[in-house]
Amino acid sequence: MNYLERMREKAQERIAAGSATILAFESSCDETAAAVVRDGRTVLSDCVLSQIDQHALYGGVVPEIASRMHVSALDPLTDQALSQAGCTFSEIDAVAVTCGPGLVGALLTGVSYAKALAYALDLPLVPVNHIEGHVSANYLAHPELEPPFCCLVASGGHSHIVLVERYGQYRLLGQTLDDAAGEAFDKVARVLSIPYPGGPLLDKLAEEGDDSRYQFPHPHTPGRYDFSFSGLKTAVINQAHMLRQKGEEIQARDFAASFRRAVVDALVEKSVLAAKEAGAASLACAGGVAANALLRRELVRRGEAAGLKVFLPPRNLCTDNAAMIGSAAFYRLMAGELADLSLNALPSIRMF
Ligand code: KG4
Ligand code: ZN
Repeated sequence: MNYLERMREKAQERIAAGSATILAFESSCDETAAAVVRDGRTVLSDCVLSQIDQHALYGGVVPEIASRMHVSALDPLTDQALSQAGCTFSEIDAVAVTCGPGLVGALLTGVSYAKALAYALDLPLVPVNHIEGHVSANYLAHPELEPPFCCLVASGGHSHIVLVERYGQYRLLGQTLDDAAGEAFDKVARVLSIPYPGGPLLDKLAEEGDDSRYQFPHPHTPGRYDFSFSGLKTAVINQAHMLRQKGEEIQARDFAASFRRAVVDALVEKSVLAAKEAGAASLACAGGVAANALLRRELVRRGEAAGLKVFLPPRNLCTDNAAMIGSAAFYRLMAGELADLSLNALPSIRMF
């Protein structure tokens, strides 16, 4: 029996014995995270160490700094995740890790750490796609949610509308043709001198603004469910420069609110349309941008008006964390989809 067959057998034995407790890691970008998750649905611990303060000095993520910080954070975070969960290594049934997409060096730190742990503990190793992790955050927050459902995934690197047909089986309905929504938020925030990462602070500013004060184009795309944020981003940045050249003061709150309105309208309109036309009864959301206050309100308002049941994970499960990786890993473990010790970081891995 080879290594993978032995690990599959071990996984099946543990699942048959009652429950599966997974120690999961996430290190694809600028958050180091470790979590313990039971049966894909129950978070026993969820520890995140953000590096934002370090990268803010440079206005964006510096890959080399991210990798070095992951290396020093992984060990203490593992101890923290185990102790918060009230368990020891002997109660862990599998080790899971984000293998991509993301920054290659950052991913490698988590993958190497998880491989070493799986080898030392002789446990199954479950590789997880980061985007699948984001979608799975919904399982942690909503015990009643089961496929099929539609999910908007909007983060710093991705904007997708996904139909979750079954656990682990996805159909891509639409995606951005250029910039991701989070990327657009961060770039427009920079023009307003909001420090990195701009999305959350721009959102806060926009809460107090008038979204009808500035007129920005609402993007058009050939695909019914596709997004495009690059044209909007450029129009917004050009307008800011033009106003400054004319010596006009930019009303930052109103500017932020008008931009946020244009992005959110596109995200919500396309997601609701895609969910309805795919025949889904439920619409979920995921990824860092799903923490956006207006997006959350509008998804509920317009989703429910269209007859959809709308699921929003709490904000801490929208941004990068390891609990979502532990949830996705449970369904991969059940399906026997494990990795051997040759697992590598896969920075451009696709989900569709
Ligand atoms: O999912 P995530 O934590 O990391 C990636 O996988 O990219 O998403 C981070 C992105 C950043 O672009 C950040 O500015 C954006 O999510 N973001 C927000 C908000 N919170 C985070 N964008 C808009 N409004 C927010 N409240
Ligand atoms: Zn993410």
